[in-house]
Amino acid sequence: MPVPRETFLSNVWREGIFKDKVLFCTGGAGTICSMQVRAFVALGGNACITGRNAEKTEKGAADIASVRPGAKVIGIVADVRDMKAMDAAAERCATELGSIDFAIAGAAGNFLAPMSQLSSNAFKTVMEIDTLGSFHTAKAVLPYLAQSVQKHKNSGKAEPTGTGGRIIFISASFHFRGQPLQAHVMAAKAAVDQISSSVAMEYGPHGITSNVITPGPIAGTEGLERLSKSDERSVKETKAKIPVGRWGEVKEIADATVFLFSEAGSYVNGHVLVVDGGQWKTTGADMGSTWKYPDFFLSGATVEGVKGGKKSKL
Ligand code: COA
Repeated sequence: MPVPRETFLSNVWREGIFKDKVLFCTGGAGTICSMQVRAFVALGGNACITGRNAEKTEKGAADIASVRPGAKVIGIVADVRDMKAMDAAAERCATELGSIDFAIAGAAGNFLAPMSQLSSNAFKTVMEIDTLGSFHTAKAVLPYLAQSVQKHKNSGKAEPTGTGGRIIFISASFHFRGQPLQAHVMAAKAAVDQISSSVAMEYGPHGITSNVITPGPIAGTEGLERLSKSDERSVKETKAKIPVGRWGEVKEIADATVFLFSEAGSYVNGHVLVVDGGQWKTTGADMGSTWKYPDFFLSGATVEGVKGGKKSKL
């Protein structure tokens, strides 16, 4: 189905910046990753997306390809938990499209469950999809990213053939402060962040950059459906805790991706780019009903009734 361009990409990027480049994305038919890939393809690139479900992956690839006449997008059935399958997927992508210049480790699994209802297999499943899957993705694509860097130097100067040799891991912010019902994902995503750090340190000398994008609650995504209630009251309360006061848009994740892959992001390496409207900063912001977030800040009230209270001369 045609997706209006303004829904997946801001009107600030130059056409063709990814011309003749190839993106490899795991979980690429998912609601967020498909828009990241769509943005890349719209700006001139070709792509391979992987997924476990053949129909969803192949349909997703065809749908993304429709964004630009002549675009090539291949759907490859591969489970990120299987190293051999990831190696084969990367090899097929590089053979059929000519290279892998960029990668997104996007495949993830999540559900809400208290530890008391989390079986060993449930915990292991998420660790294997998110953490092991991200490690497998990196291992499979890094040799190709290293080849890309030979052609597209990461010099920070205006390179005639543009950029290459970059990987982005999709993570989450739950482990920054703590989040009940997410023991499995906090453990898995904390590890994903560290895998990215290791790639940044060990492959930076080869010219490759590695970064993390941490999406917040993004409208219309499977993640939002799985992790938050949709009744009016819950939505209002959750949005109130986001400093910018709204859900994010998929295009805001796609824009962050284009930035990190483009020349504008050349010196960004080993970074965790949180795109969540500031939500994680307020996770622990409620200090009881006295200073309720954001009401207290909107009211203009001063802090009263505690030792050490003092008014500054504004
Ligand atoms: N609460 C508690 N345990 C759960 C659960 C839930 N909501 N959902 C699944 N599990 C458990 C299963 O019971 C099973 O454990 P068991 O063998 O002890 O019973 C274990 O997790 C594996 O489940 P299974 O369905 O066999 O795994 P899968 O590989 O087919 O699916 C999931 C993986 C569970 C992560 C599934 O939710 C998924 O495929 N997610 C992909 C989409 C997604 O989550 N996107 C992320 C958006 S933020």
